[in-house]
Parts: sequence; C-alpha cells; structure tokens
Amino acid sequence: MSIQWFPGHMNAARRQAAESMEKVDLVIEVLDARVPQASSNPMIESLRRARQRPCLKILNKSDLADPAATRAWLQHYGAQPQVTAVALSCRKPADVAKVPALCLALAPHRGTALKPLRLMIMGIPNVGKSTLMNALLKKRVAKVGDEPAVTKTQQRLFLGNNIVLIDTPGLMWPKIEHPTDGLMLAASHAIGVNAIIEEEVAAFLGELLLQRYPALLAARYGLQPEGMDGIGVVEAIATRRGFRLRGGDADVEKAAHTLLQDYRSGALGRISLETPSSRVALLASYVPPPSLADPQPQEDIDDE
Ligand code: G4P
Repeated sequence: MSIQWFPGHMNAARRQAAESMEKVDLVIEVLDARVPQASSNPMIESLRRARQRPCLKILNKSDLADPAATRAWLQHYGAQPQVTAVALSCRKPADVAKVPALCLALAPHRGTALKPLRLMIMGIPNVGKSTLMNALLKKRVAKVGDEPAVTKTQQRLFLGNNIVLIDTPGLMWPKIEHPTDGLMLAASHAIGVNAIIEEEVAAFLGELLLQRYPALLAARYGLQPEGMDGIGVVEAIATRRGFRLRGGDADVEKAAHTLLQDYRSGALGRISLETPSSRVALLASYVPPPSLADPQPQEDIDDE
C-alpha cells in the first residue's frame, strides 16, 4: 500500500491558483516548519515564478520544530530570489503581527490607498492557513473548503495598512513525488492514513528519530536506542508502556499511535524531520519497505 496524491484535484487546484495568482501581488506560502520541503507544493513555486510574484514563506508551527533545523531552512529559502522566509507560530498573535510589514517590504510598489497590496495564502492541508488568516483578521472566518473543485465566491478581506487578503481557495494537495515525503506528511498529520499504514508511518518516524533525536526517544520512553530499528522503537514503546493485546502480544497499533501523537503534540520535544542536507541524503538513500515499494494502481479520479 502507498500514500497517494490526487491528480484530479491537483488539476482543478492548479487552474484556480493560476487564475487567482493573476489578481494578487504577493503569495504567502504556509509550510510546516517540521517538514518544510515535504509540505511544499512545487506547483505553487512554479506558478508564482511564472507570474513573477514575490513570496513570503512562513515556516509555521515553529513552536514544535527544532530551532537549529529551522535556522537552516530559513537560510535555504532566504537565498531564493523574491523570497522572504520567516519562522512563526500562527497560534501566537505577536508572531502574526510581524506578517504585514514583511509583505509590504516584498512588494514596495503596493500598499497605498490607491494601490493596496493584494495577497493570497496558499499551502497544503493542515499547515495552518486558517489559523494564520484568523490571526491576521483578528477574528474567525469560515474555513475555506478543503475541496478545491468547489466554486466559491471570492472574498476580499481588509487587513489594514492597505493590505487586502484575497480569500480564495489556496489549498493545494501535497504532491508526493518521494515516498519519504508521504511518510513525513502522514507523521505530521498533513495527510490522513489508515491504521495499517499508521504502523508503517510510526516505524518510519521511529527510524528517523533514532537517527536524529535518540536522546529524546530515550528520555520519553526509557528505551535504549543503540542497535534498534524503527519497528523496534514501536515495539519497545509497547513493552515499556505495557500495551498488550488479549493474547499477551504487544499492541503495536496502540504503540504506533502513541509515538505519532507524542511527535505531533510536541510531547517528545521540538523535532524537525528534515533539514536541507538531511533531505538530500534521505532521498538518495531511502529504500522503501516491500509494502510501500509496491503501490496499488492509482484510482482515476480526475475531474477534468
Ligand atoms: P489549514 O487551514 O492549513 O488546513 O490548517 P489549520 O489552520 O486548520 O491548522 C491545522 C492545525 O494546526 C490546527 O490544529 C491548528 O490549531 C494547528 N496549528 C496552526 N498553527 C499552529 C502553530 O503555529 N503551532 C501549533 N502547535 N499548531 C498550529 P487542530 O488540532 O486541527 O485544531 P485546533 O483545535 O488546535 O484548532
């Protein structure tokens, strides 16, 4: 079984995004700071470059991410033309208050009463787009439907400082070119997975944590990381926590869920699953387990 993305939705989203991009001066791309590149959609980048729109990349949920990894990503993205990268927690109003000035600096020819700065917020599901929008507006607005094909009246929301937010479906489905991106997104809850896959996602997460944060694993679960592999981490959690099935076998499903929850909630500590350099190394070396290496035929749900 493999983690899929949906080409039909992607096509509809691309069309809408291309149309919307014409009407804005700047794009805010929201990324998950724990998995910035895995949570980016290359389509956003290609569309905005084609239209020469500057971009504010927000590495959101930085409260959960490893500060050293976040610094490396800020440097990486900051070196790209027409890009400003910033790490925020959109749950913190003081962090979000920095956003308007960063946007105005990227489009200095706009931001007057006559020529307001028009911006749109884009990103894959669950990265925090609605949280950001609500914080910018200082109120709750209805969540943009998670369905890019649904036609929606475009709203113009005034943020003050002569900035207008075009509330258009900026939702992009993740484009999972690499199996490790699918696993990282599933671990970070950007895409949902069933219980069978959850164990594989947890084993993958366990493996990454062994490589990158063994001390955090040892501290949380009292396990000895030396010589362990990813599934070993999950099994050790089951043993340490006394998760047992009726017959006495280890309840690996419960342990997998626990590991994922602890990572997602930040209970394990501040963790980033990738840095610019670890990503290059992982893509070059990853060999998927047999169950992930043999993808099911993809259902054709193209809605073109
Ligand atoms: P989306 O519009 O891009 O789909 O994402 P949304 O704003 O709905 O945020 C998805 C989840 O991420 C929400 O959690 C939200 O609270 C959380 N979130 C957003 N920004 C941050 C951040 O900076 N730090 C942390 N730690 N979490 C953040 P949820 O559990 O689905 O809902 P909620 O009950 O927490 O609101």
